[in-house]
Amino acid sequence: MDIKQVMVIGAGQMGSGIAHVHALAGFEVMLYDLDQASIEKGIQTITKQFQRQVEKGRMTEGEMDITLSRIHQSTELQDAKKADFIVEAVVENMEVKTNLFAKLDDLAPADTILATNTSSLPITEIAAATNRPEKVIGMHFMNPVPVMKLVEIIRGLATADDVYETVEALTKKLNKTPVEVNDFPGFVSNRVLMPMINEAIYTVYEGVATPEAVDEVMKLGMNHPMGPLTLADFIGLDTCLYIMETLHEGFGDDKYRPCPLLRKYVKAGWLGKKTGRGFYVYH
Ligand code: CAA
Ligand code: NAD
Repeated sequence: MDIKQVMVIGAGQMGSGIAHVHALAGFEVMLYDLDQASIEKGIQTITKQFQRQVEKGRMTEGEMDITLSRIHQSTELQDAKKADFIVEAVVENMEVKTNLFAKLDDLAPADTILATNTSSLPITEIAAATNRPEKVIGMHFMNPVPVMKLVEIIRGLATADDVYETVEALTKKLNKTPVEVNDFPGFVSNRVLMPMINEAIYTVYEGVATPEAVDEVMKLGMNHPMGPLTLADFIGLDTCLYIMETLHEGFGDDKYRPCPLLRKYVKAGWLGKKTGRGFYVYH
């Protein structure tokens, strides 16, 4: 399939990163959000990253300007009518995603692929909200998108082979490595990562150690680039909680029970780096 016009739904930290890498690979990108301020913040982040590349001599000013000119702001879902490929990166909530996919299904051309960047939710269920389940697929980027090489690709029950092949080829065009996994809660990445983060939160909750000490242990002892609590703040504590809830509900096993301290922080609006406070304070 010939993809020229990409639409990214949600301009938060993942959506802006996804728009960044598509524009860099030469695609025209519409960056859509309900919230104009989120789009502006997203474009600011992308611009800052490109400016850093210019300063480091990896990109010219001219190349930066051309790349940025490929990204167009959108607050009109109707723009989906012009999209060859749509990738969704809104909040990790099944109801929000299924409502959105039903609308996108009505608006987008019949052969447009609808991909979701969900971290953990069943692709099959999101696909069932549309009349084109064969064209719905999981395309799970990692944070920060411009840096991380992996894209987990997840087929729903009905996803067509040619749709998988198109998304695999697109991933390679973005200079990323696709890995196919099956449609189970949390896929592979978050089924393995998130219980570790949740357990790290339990060690703080139970008074075993301070957040700083937990992070130091995992950084110096296990060579992790970020400690699990710094990483949780970086991902977003709301997203971590949604993922743990999906694992808990999906597998029914108590080992996935979200730590009460995680719930408390989310209720307090301490969502991590994006709100200025989580396990740490950010200025
Ligand atoms: N956007 C774009 N580029 C970024 C960036 C961002 N937000 N943050 C850092 N970078 C780039 C920097 O520009 C720098 O590039 P150059 O060396 O080419 O200049 C490079 O990354 C390294 O950055 P820094 O030197 O500032 O910092 P660092 O060495 O500490 O690396 C990091 C930062 C890459 C984020 C590193 O700490 C890391 O790998 N952390 C773990 C990230 C991780 O585990 N991600 C997965 C999260 S889970 C997930 O995404 C799935 C899910 O569903 C929740
Ligand atoms: P975020 O909170 O940074 O951004 C979400 C954006 O979606 C916000 O700008 C919000 O205004 C917008 N939004 C909410 N509802 C919307 C709607 N109905 N229509 C349009 N826009 C809407 O969240 P994020 O961290 O970018 O996560 C987005 C998705 O990516 C989630 O599904 C998350 O699980 C997944 N994900 C997150 C990470 C991570 O590390 N944060 C990694 C991989 C995947």
